[in-house]
Amino acid sequence: MAEYVVARADELKPGDRKLVAVGRIQVVLFRVGDAYHALPNICPHQFGPICEGKITGAIMANADTGWEPGWFHDGEVLVCPWHGLEFRITTGQCLAYPNVRLRQYPVIVDGDDVKIAL
Ligand code: FES
Repeated sequence: MAEYVVARADELKPGDRKLVAVGRIQVVLFRVGDAYHALPNICPHQFGPICEGKITGAIMANADTGWEPGWFHDGEVLVCPWHGLEFRITTGQCLAYPNVRLRQYPVIVDGDDVKIAL
């Protein structure tokens, strides 16, 4: 696995993202709060440019919420611009399909550099 510098540590504010190309791979670096996450710029549904989608939260209702709908994961949900599948930036998990998850690339903050490992 090789590490690539993709941003300066002060470059992204919380809520920002940056599309980077490492060779022929497009990766998007997100900053959520103080943490960085790197995801591929390709949706597992029909290969849409997922990282161009809006960042929001999601209405969810499940056994954990007592089946009461509520707003969750504000600022952590990425919506694919093509057909609207939602993914958590922090985990890559698709909200609609438990068996679908985006790959996550390791992110390393090394002094003033933010690196991803591929
Ligand atoms: S290509 Fe992303 S939801 Fe269809």
